[in-house]
Amino acid sequence: MIKASNISHFYGAEQVLFDLSFEIKSGEFLFLSGESGSGKSTLLSILSTLLKPSNGKLLIDGEGVGTIKNIDYFRQSKIGFVFQFHYLINYLSVYENIALAALEDKKQNINKILGELGILELSERYPNEISGGQRQRVALARALVNEPKIIFADEPTGSLDSKNSQIVYGLLAEAVKSGTTVVVASHDMQIENYATHTIRLKDGQIL
Ligand SMILES: Nc1ncnc2c1ncn2[C@@H]1O[C@H](COP(=O)(O)OP(=O)(O)OP(=O)(O)O)[C@@H](O)[C@H]1O
Ligand SMILES: [Mg+2]
Repeated sequence: MIKASNISHFYGAEQVLFDLSFEIKSGEFLFLSGESGSGKSTLLSILSTLLKPSNGKLLIDGEGVGTIKNIDYFRQSKIGFVFQFHYLINYLSVYENIALAALEDKKQNINKILGELGILELSERYPNEISGGQRQRVALARALVNEPKIIFADEPTGSLDSKNSQIVYGLLAEAVKSGTTVVVASHDMQIENYATHTIRLKDGQIL
């Protein structure tokens, strides 16, 4: 599903990732762990096609990232993104936030997904009228709406308490059960209870 070969990254003169090679198989729940500054977000950004590595090669679903013709469509149709700060639009309702991200033929999924995540009754509310945990579930619904093959999440529970964090991990684990590949970068060691694989980074290298 994802094959990273000899990935290195520099910010200016500072090298932060060192020659990383590994594979993520379809249907894995991969936990990227490591201390602050170890390179988790940098690696996740590279794996999710948002950041071009300084060196190395990345294959997603057999396609070499960098040579993909329509990268916007590739991202929209294959990848779901969840971030620490959900980036929902405050002027749009919960439903509209998800509809904005949805491909035309996936709009029919919205209510089903909201139901599965337990937030269907919030669909007409605005992001500032719901709780942080609910907002993060909306962000997850947005990531799921196009039925992506892969979900990348960077500190998806960074602003949540332990109970809401577990709800989010449980929902990610559900997505894994239905065949989605999930990659989560986080400080939160609770994820080990849900993940099928762990990569631990230290100073830009795999321990
Ligand atoms: N845009 C940037 N420009 C320069 N240096 C950066 C940039 N982003 C990250 N770094 C540096 O790269 C290293 C790895 O950062 P990264 O954000 O990948 O770590 P992280 O493991 O996600 O940390 P955290 O757990 O705090 O989120 C750090 O030394 C950081 O200071
Ligand atoms: Mg980070």
